[in-house]
Amino acid sequence: METIQYNLPQSHIPQTWYNILPDLPVPMAPPLHPGTLKPLGPDDLAPLFPMALIMQEVSTEREIEIPGEVRQIYAQWRPSPLMRARRLEKALDTPAHIYYKNEGVSPAGSHKLNTAVAQAWYNKQEGVRHLSTETGAGQWGSALSMACAFLGLDCKVFMVRVSYDQKPYRRLLMQTYGTTVYPSPSDQTEFGRKVLAEDPNCPGSLGIAISEAIENTVTHPGTKYSLGSVLNHVCLHQTVIGEEAIEQMEQAGEEPDIVVGCVGGGSNLAGIAFPFIRKKITEGKSYRILAVEPISCPTLTKGELRYDFGDAAGMTPLMTMYTLGHDFMPPSIHAGGLRYHGMSPAVSHAYKLGLIEGIAYPQRSVFEAAVLFARTEGLVPAPESGHAIRAVIDEAIKAREEGRKKVILFNLSGHGLLDLAAYNTYLTGKLQDE
Ligand SMILES: Cc1ncc(COP(=O)(O)O)c(C=O)c1O
Repeated sequence: METIQYNLPQSHIPQTWYNILPDLPVPMAPPLHPGTLKPLGPDDLAPLFPMALIMQEVSTEREIEIPGEVRQIYAQWRPSPLMRARRLEKALDTPAHIYYKNEGVSPAGSHKLNTAVAQAWYNKQEGVRHLSTETGAGQWGSALSMACAFLGLDCKVFMVRVSYDQKPYRRLLMQTYGTTVYPSPSDQTEFGRKVLAEDPNCPGSLGIAISEAIENTVTHPGTKYSLGSVLNHVCLHQTVIGEEAIEQMEQAGEEPDIVVGCVGGGSNLAGIAFPFIRKKITEGKSYRILAVEPISCPTLTKGELRYDFGDAAGMTPLMTMYTLGHDFMPPSIHAGGLRYHGMSPAVSHAYKLGLIEGIAYPQRSVFEAAVLFARTEGLVPAPESGHAIRAVIDEAIKAREEGRKKVILFNLSGHGLLDLAAYNTYLTGKLQDE
């Protein structure tokens, strides 16, 4: 039989997360306080995050130990399988070997659970009882909801209105885990009310929802804020994906030529790619790392590298990142998790240093790729993950045209079983590119 799955035993759940910061050949610019414009100190972040996560944010340790209880919860779904997409390879008649890490096996549906569990755990250690967050497509909100249910924390989620309307089942999943969900912009915060007064039909954006969640945090004592992407500690927690993938690729007896991930705030790409970038930096490997984004929210490929806010209201620290401007209102595309104006500072930095390449696709070509993947591999990908699949298919076709074997690895960041309304729009010919 041909091998399809490369599985690791539970004991091989990584013991440590990989911190890329000390390995970067040029240090990153520091985040700035939004009021004083001076470099941010740990105390400036204390109203929002527990100190352990703030220390991870600025850590210069290459490896950070994963607490035993977090590893124990990871064991509900980790190590996630590495799959060889042989049926897709055959359909494309390509000499390329295509592998994917399936993060869609997480009970909440995506890679987001890797950081949700860690963040909820560190908050709990420091006595926090309530967490407040935003969610785009609902994957992050679902993940934090499940983590809070496991650790006995109360959770509030501001869900971008367009996704709240497009994805009622994701909202119901969060509510099933016990979370309170508000459509954003909402009437719960001063900023939400201001946005609604200007545009009662505003579809919302991740930037607006972040502002609402932060306002909710600072106006409710005992509450901390949790972010599902962008920040260093979030990228750090996701590196379990790449660490496992390195071991599983060894099991398969291959090394990737290309590592691919979709990018919204940058965390799943960081998760699969940073451990491979470590090998690029420290072992001289020459992997191509490909970040795939929507053409309608082209942060890396069309954005500017500069200091900008992480949210729409300008409440977060200023971070150096590729950005379309914190007031950019992305079109209401179906990959809601990729509708973010900025990019993780660490991913932005790696991109600027030439360690990562970027490419952008329109959403119809993404759904075409996602449907081919579903019909060959059986798994219906999240529309976000469909972006990575589009790029993988194009690379596999190029390999066929050039008559060259290429090994391609990508991160299937989540399943799309709660995104079937978006597939319906595509299958009935109603999907527009913007
Ligand atoms: C399934 C899935 N993939 C990818 C993303 C993009 O986020 P990130 O770039 O942080 O991985 C999201 C965001 O919600 C998502 O839900």
